[in-house]
Amino acid sequence: MKNILSSYNITYNNSKVHHCDLIDLPKVYSNNGSLTAINNNTEAPFSIKRVYYLYDIPSGASRGGHAHKHLYQLVVAASGSFDVILDDGNFKRTITLNQPFIGLLIVPGIWRELANFSSGAICLVLASDVYMEEDYFRDYTEFQAQKI
Ligand code: TYD
Repeated sequence: MKNILSSYNITYNNSKVHHCDLIDLPKVYSNNGSLTAINNNTEAPFSIKRVYYLYDIPSGASRGGHAHKHLYQLVVAASGSFDVILDDGNFKRTITLNQPFIGLLIVPGIWRELANFSSGAICLVLASDVYMEEDYFRDYTEFQAQKI
């Protein structure tokens, strides 16, 4: 995955929805429950600098509504399910996440909305950098204008 990413030479203005990929995460099963581990530069194809999670999401709410300039993210439905609507300015792709051992890699320059959260859903996000408001496109017209 790391090689694929560098060979695409992805930047926020040339990235496409098909650069976003589902990643199978290892599942260690036992009779007492399952465990999934995500390591830097292996299961996650970048160095993880931040982890955050969304929870207590009211029925009918949506999240996201922005794109990032440089940030890579791996999004996991740690519990429950939700849809991720990806948009590269030309094409949209909707992915349903509903398994804690599947991650969705979102590359820079992809507008995303998260919607249709099930009750009790937890959206776990592993990110390649710390929170920086300067890294966001929050205006869709501005986002679309800079896409090649
Ligand atoms: P935002 O990224 O817009 O959340 P979402 O995409 O889930 O709707 O962030 C919502 C608020 O939380 C915003 O005020 C910034 C703040 N925030 C942090 O303080 N740290 C973080 O790591 C993130 C992702 C957001």
